[in-house]
Amino acid sequence: MSDNLHQLRCFGCGQRIRGDQAGPNFRCADCGDLFEVEYPGWSRVGDRPNAGALKWLWRERRLSNEKLDHSGVWRFRELLPILENFDHAVTLREGNTPLYHLPLAARSLGIDALFAKHQGMNPTGSFKDTGMTSALSVARERGFEWVACASTGNTSAAMAAYAARAGMRSLVLIPQGKIAWGKLSQAMDYGAVTCQLETDFDGCVRVLTRIVEQAPIYLLNSVNPYRLEGQKTPALELAEAMDWNVPDHILVPGGNLANSSALGKGFREMKELGLITRVPRITVVQAAGSAPLVHSFAANGGQALEPVEAQTRATAIRIGNPASWRKAAQVIRETGGWCLDVSEGEIAVAKAELGREGIGSEPASAVTLAGLKQLVADGRIASSETVVLLLTGHTLKDADYTIDFHRGTLLTEAESAPVEAAMQPLRRNAVAVEATPEAVLSALRSVAQSDEIPAPQLAPAPQAH
Ligand code: F0G
Repeated sequence: MSDNLHQLRCFGCGQRIRGDQAGPNFRCADCGDLFEVEYPGWSRVGDRPNAGALKWLWRERRLSNEKLDHSGVWRFRELLPILENFDHAVTLREGNTPLYHLPLAARSLGIDALFAKHQGMNPTGSFKDTGMTSALSVARERGFEWVACASTGNTSAAMAAYAARAGMRSLVLIPQGKIAWGKLSQAMDYGAVTCQLETDFDGCVRVLTRIVEQAPIYLLNSVNPYRLEGQKTPALELAEAMDWNVPDHILVPGGNLANSSALGKGFREMKELGLITRVPRITVVQAAGSAPLVHSFAANGGQALEPVEAQTRATAIRIGNPASWRKAAQVIRETGGWCLDVSEGEIAVAKAELGREGIGSEPASAVTLAGLKQLVADGRIASSETVVLLLTGHTLKDADYTIDFHRGTLLTEAESAPVEAAMQPLRRNAVAVEATPEAVLSALRSVAQSDEIPAPQLAPAPQAH
């Protein structure tokens, strides 16, 4: 049934195949490019979903007690008919993530309508859950027992959790010493076979591609087009939350470049189906040490990409040879967005500034705020625009990064020099204090001295008789 509803179209040569005809590495046999899921029925009058009815149905489902309706992905299942039977869906109640206003950043940037869509509030703490529920459900329905991914950490955490829920086994390849502990601990907890390889993310991808060609293991990296079907649903959530108006501009972190592609697909499909009347600009922000798409736009308008050896402390996006770059480049071009990079110092400051708003995120997410500051500074975003930052990971994924920032040990001198003035007031190192009320009160006075809100007025100490 679903194979009649959906087909795979090669992004490079346009060849169409049935869903079950894709090879194990999800590359086109003719041109080697990636596939995209498409739904031929949507272009046939009569089979095309009705926009008004869908809006009503999706809203009704928010009050439903059905397990599938509690998922922020499967609540929109009419737009991702990729399963033969939706009872096969493996869900951890992903999606339904909050949209937060950011009043402090809004004030300092002069943009009133500035929001963060926090995908780090998913069950395993990252946006990967939305794509994992869709692609792993396909794997289960097609009878696979093993799934695998190469990962900078979040994909592996999500895959391991969903595989465990489905009673399946999972194999994780991660670059030795280059992922945050929180993520590694999750893969272990959820029972994945975890191999740390002495290479980078791109090396892990190369090894895994060979493995899935030799063994019946289902590949769950984002070259798998079913991942993107789940990852497009935050676009639907956003549009719904804004009463089917879309923001003017969305900023997304860029690593392997699937997420920006997925969101672009979500908005494009909503427009085709008449759910929205226009699409937002989508801008991709990369870390300066891992910015092959930025280089590609500068060199040739995003037509060819030269891989780089990736470096950044935002380990989630430490990727030098992004698989989905062509798809992302098209989304940027189609929507009129930009592709820009931000320095290690800018990322650190932006993350701490979000923290000051009570919004924790991992460093890879904070590139969005750092990128927005650049766009505002050079006049590419106007104060009247509605802007959404896509935050991708939870702050507890990489607590070491945060602690190093507040201790002042995160950056090298060269990295911190340009942002030192911005960093100083944001740092809050924990202070070692003697275990007496006097010592704590004295620490409070000295630490609070430089704050906007002064230390509390203290009653004079009681006199000893
Ligand atoms: N933000 C976070 C927190 C991520 O974990 C990733 C990717 C991205 C942004 C970039 O998304 O790759 O779709 O452009 N993490 C992958 C992983 C690669 O293995 O967890 P992208």
